[in-house]
Amino acid sequence: MEHNFWHERWKMNQIGFHRDEIHPHLQQYGSKLGIKSGGRVFVPMCGKTNDMLWLLKQGFQVLGIELSPLAVAAFFAENDLQANIRQQGEFLSYEIEGLQVLCGDFFALQLDDVGEIDAVYDRGALVALPAQMRLDYVAKMAQLLKSDVNILLIALNYPQVEMSGPPFSLPPTEIARLYQAWCEIDLLANEDVLAQEAALQKRGLTQLHEQVYRLVVK
Ligand SMILES: C[S@@+](CC[C@H](N)C(=O)[O-])C[C@H]1O[C@@H](n2cnc3c(N)ncnc32)[C@H](O)[C@@H]1O
Repeated sequence: MEHNFWHERWKMNQIGFHRDEIHPHLQQYGSKLGIKSGGRVFVPMCGKTNDMLWLLKQGFQVLGIELSPLAVAAFFAENDLQANIRQQGEFLSYEIEGLQVLCGDFFALQLDDVGEIDAVYDRGALVALPAQMRLDYVAKMAQLLKSDVNILLIALNYPQVEMSGPPFSLPPTEIARLYQAWCEIDLLANEDVLAQEAALQKRGLTQLHEQVYRLVVK
């Protein structure tokens, strides 16, 4: 999706993807990030997710990246956090102890911007992107990550004909297309979540599964 699409969504507060509570699958499968206290977790396209605070509470360092300045400002303001704000290359960096959010374009990230990443938590990033951009997304990830990094990915799987994204459907064949060349793929959970997603039912969905993967960079 184009930048303007997301800027508009934040401006109009059309952020049905945001949940105030911590994602249950992060709480359940967070250990699959496979890192110890002090490890650094990358949260691409983080919005204003409170999942970053949960990760911080587990003793991890957190690095988020988010396009929308409104989202980044809201994350810190709504959590009463006073961020140290400075320019870092192309990005505006918001930082508190242990947690940094870069405001800018994920696709512009270079290794120097992110530093060492020990694990990735992807909820709402890959599913937000149409097919061609998904290829660009994994190419960028592959550039930023070293071997043995674990990616905890929360995907959605539904009949794409029933609704246009975002969120887009990512069936196992699509996960294989994107990751099998450079990651080991392990499906951890496959849960029917249709009943919990009234808004997506209204958009026409009759089937919806949330699928949790652990991907390990080869
Ligand atoms: C579906 S939302 C998910 C947000 C968050 N991960 C969550 O779980 O609530 C997708 C987010 O990606 C952000 N985004 C879209 N394109 C981006 C880009 N090129 N670089 C950085 N962030 C981007 C949007 O502004 C939006 O906040």
